[in-house]
Amino acid sequence: MPLLVRALPTGTAFFAQTFGSNSVSYPGSKAAAGVPERIIGQMPPHTIYCEPFYGSGQIFHRKRPSVLSVLIDVDAGCLTPVGSRPDVMPIHGDALHWLEKFRLGSNALLHMAGVSTLGPQAVAYVDPPYPLPTRHTKKRYKRELTLRDHATLLETLLQLNCHVLLSTYPNDLYAQRLASWRCLSYEVSVHGHKRTELLYCNFPEPDTLHDWRYSGRDFRERCALMRERRNLVRRFKAMTGRKRGYMLEALKELYVASWPSTHGGALWSADIVAHNGTRGAVQGLANGHALPDPNAHRPVTRGL
Ligand SMILES: C[S@@+](CC[C@H](N)C(=O)[O-])C[C@H]1O[C@@H](n2cnc3c(N)ncnc32)[C@H](O)[C@@H]1O
Repeated sequence: MPLLVRALPTGTAFFAQTFGSNSVSYPGSKAAAGVPERIIGQMPPHTIYCEPFYGSGQIFHRKRPSVLSVLIDVDAGCLTPVGSRPDVMPIHGDALHWLEKFRLGSNALLHMAGVSTLGPQAVAYVDPPYPLPTRHTKKRYKRELTLRDHATLLETLLQLNCHVLLSTYPNDLYAQRLASWRCLSYEVSVHGHKRTELLYCNFPEPDTLHDWRYSGRDFRERCALMRERRNLVRRFKAMTGRKRGYMLEALKELYVASWPSTHGGALWSADIVAHNGTRGAVQGLANGHALPDPNAHRPVTRGL
């Protein structure tokens, strides 16, 4: 009797399909302890999120959803576990090509979602395969970037009109091209070795965050903040209705008018172009209906 062998996905697609889109085993995944916290803890409020080198999308899956998320990978198998969601636009293709299109604006895909370009209301988290000379393990992905590709990527990112966060290992090319960007460095454990990883940001440290659960520089600070917040809420709950209203009014006068809206409101509507596209659900979100519930997202297990 002939042996039936089911075709198995290969390489990195195998990891994504076998372990699911939340796989911490995906090569280069950003799942290591403390890493997602550092990255998401730097993200300003946004309504559009773009992850052009998706892999297993550890950052996308851990952060609070945005109105629209554009996820790109050249390896189709990585995107399969994402499935079909009205707030997610998976793109199987070359990130360099798509980022350049987004930079130029007048992009049909974005237009279908009701926005013109990746503007200030957008955040791009860029986690390309690190330059080969900086890596202990050599080729790991279906597609690697040449040094020329890295240079092209940086040129495009430098011209993007949105908030960009980018991960890499220390290397001269990035240090030179991104010399004007803020750079955070931290240690990660990779296959039992300590390595320094860098997070470049093209904006100053934000005062307001897209996902407040990630404020605090480290686990201790996040725990301390969580305790303080709990105590404050307890004190407010213990007040009489009148006293609470009196206090809230003072806070409202001081802060609320300038508070950025991350789900609906000014940030989102400012960049909406009137359009009756096919992505009805996304357009619905743009109109302020059925916005994702910020509290529906699963809580961060470590710290805030
Ligand atoms: C470092 S991994 C991303 C890991 C991801 N941040 C995570 O948490 O799993 C880099 C990814 O970029 C993808 N890739 C490589 N070249 C690409 C290209 N030109 N366009 C789009 N994706 C590319 C690889 O398939 C791989 O999934």
